[in-house]
Amino acid sequence: MITFPDGFLWGAATASYQIEGAADTREQSIWDVFSHTPGKVADGHTGDVACDHYHRYREDVALMAEIGLKAYRFSIAWPRIADLSFYDRLVDELLERGISPVATLYHWDLPVTYDWRDRDTAYAFADYATKAYEVIGDRVSMWTTLNEPWVSAFVGYGSGRHAPGVESSEDPFTVAHHLLLAHGLGTQALRAAGASQVSITLNLTPVIGDESGLIDTLANRMFLDPVLLGTDPLERIPDDDLKIINQPIDALGVNYYTVNRVVVDPSSPGSPEHPGSAGLRWLPPEGTPTEMNWEVAPFGLTDLLVRLSRDYPGTPLMITENGAAYEDTVHDQDRIAYLDAHFRAAAAAIEQGADLRGYFVWSLMDNFEWAYGYHKRFGIIRVDYDTLERTLKDSARWYHDVILNNGL
Ligand code: FCB
Repeated sequence: MITFPDGFLWGAATASYQIEGAADTREQSIWDVFSHTPGKVADGHTGDVACDHYHRYREDVALMAEIGLKAYRFSIAWPRIADLSFYDRLVDELLERGISPVATLYHWDLPVTYDWRDRDTAYAFADYATKAYEVIGDRVSMWTTLNEPWVSAFVGYGSGRHAPGVESSEDPFTVAHHLLLAHGLGTQALRAAGASQVSITLNLTPVIGDESGLIDTLANRMFLDPVLLGTDPLERIPDDDLKIINQPIDALGVNYYTVNRVVVDPSSPGSPEHPGSAGLRWLPPEGTPTEMNWEVAPFGLTDLLVRLSRDYPGTPLMITENGAAYEDTVHDQDRIAYLDAHFRAAAAAIEQGADLRGYFVWSLMDNFEWAYGYHKRFGIIRVDYDTLERTLKDSARWYHDVILNNGL
């Protein structure tokens, strides 16, 4: 029997654009524009309706309670800034069911009036953080400034596979700088408003086969080092900004899905999401991958958590996303096996000294998986997109027992 530390925060995660729908009740985001542009998202899927969580949140919170979740990680849609009362209602509903609200301020749905290539966007983000705190700050357990700035920078402004769909090898670095600045300014704004628990969530991917360390720097260190050490391995960010970025935080959110395997190959052009990676070739996954074609690599999670506690000591860790897309069935044994292996990998890391405080499964429910639209299902709850009916999958029932036993 594997048990987790007392008070371990078992949860599930979602993001506003991926589940809320009700697009007519808010301003437009870059994802509205992108998903309505032909050819950008599979089969022209959009988040206009999504899971209609905006109208069905009561039912969804009841399902969270049925699973036994201790915490729920959601994101606030910045395009709702004129009226954030939806989150007021959501947070009250969660608290009534004894579920801790963990709120992310930015999970990619940037209002169309902003662009991360503009430095001003970081200052606008801090104002938005203040506003959000005013509405729900008295009831949120943990704030997260940004979700996965690497993806916003290198997929949104590098390969262009995500909104706003810019293809560039230079812009990602400007955007990453401004996102990090937004994290620093946003953290200062939250503190000034009274927040005691502030974090950032990074997608961190161990790299296998790159002796030069370049990919690790581009994928992981260029975000970790400025936030946690106040240094920039690429030496692009001015010192004054590094000071702002290097705010004390109360937890580091880790999104973990897979590993990167690369091999030296002088004829390879590299990856458009890792500018400067010519001469490296990405290898296919080992073993049977998930429906995203991502390798199932629980060992990478143990290594990552142990490395983080060694290289960045003193910051508690939370897994803010981990999960897998598999075929559309409620009898999702593959997902149970995936989660079981990763929970064990996390327990092994704790055993080796990692200060891991919580684990949020991605995702609470099937949802709009960005460029893949509704084709990739990560949920532990199934969503029927014709009727919007929800059904607990076997993984949700299995997770219920894990939470009840605080272990496996
Ligand atoms: C992460 C995102 C999340 C979801 C998962 C599968 O990169 O943060 O919204 O799409 O991947």
